[in-house]
Amino acid sequence: MDGNGRWAKKRNRPRSMGHQAGVKSLRACIEYCARLGIGTLTVFAFSSENWKRPANEVSRLMNLFLQALEKDSGKLHNNGICLRFIGDKSAFEATLQVKMTEAEALTANNTRMVVNIAVNYGGRWDITQAARRLATAINAGSLPADDVNESAFSRFLALAASPDPDLFIRTGGEMRISNFLLWQAAYSELYFTPTLWPDFDEDALNLAITAFQSRERRFGLTGEQFRNKQARIDANA
Ligand code: IPE
Ligand code: MG
Repeated sequence: MDGNGRWAKKRNRPRSMGHQAGVKSLRACIEYCARLGIGTLTVFAFSSENWKRPANEVSRLMNLFLQALEKDSGKLHNNGICLRFIGDKSAFEATLQVKMTEAEALTANNTRMVVNIAVNYGGRWDITQAARRLATAINAGSLPADDVNESAFSRFLALAASPDPDLFIRTGGEMRISNFLLWQAAYSELYFTPTLWPDFDEDALNLAITAFQSRERRFGLTGEQFRNKQARIDANA
């Protein structure tokens, strides 16, 4: 979700106004995704690098985050949304950590859609913490080192409970991944749009989905192999 600051600047407003508009945009985006029947939405709300922003911007972001949790958790729960926070949450102040845990507990059994909110997250952090926990399991004797393969490893990642993303969208015009889902995006379709996050509305999401639908995803196979494989899966369904 990139471009909040530029959105505000274009309107001669402080950056925090852009973040406020960004929260609105996220609220709406969760709604469209749920209506479309999307199973999992993962958003990058705050990176491990964002702490380096000016202190007043960081503190406004934290306030907004707290407000949004207070205001939206109940509504999301009533809409069948399961909320999860991924990232190193220990860096946040205690009240915020408690609110995140409460929102997760409240919505834990909801099945309509999972919304993962990445906070103080970085893809390298995720891989590193997974490696650390994997090493601990090996040391404890609960996982033989010879059994470490991709699927055993990925169970230690923050998104172990979610499928890999099909579509990876970055708003705001930058064409880089910026340490988001490094492991999980291996086969994701990447979609970059100059639209600033606060302007990313239902039409913009539909454009991204249409672009996704026009891609041929082969996962390393030839087009023919992949179509045959898909036909076999469809025939068995
Ligand atoms: C994304 O918008 C929101 C966060 C990183 C919290 P930016 O704040 O990065 O907006 P720009 O890139 O300065 O426009
Ligand atoms: Mg930015």
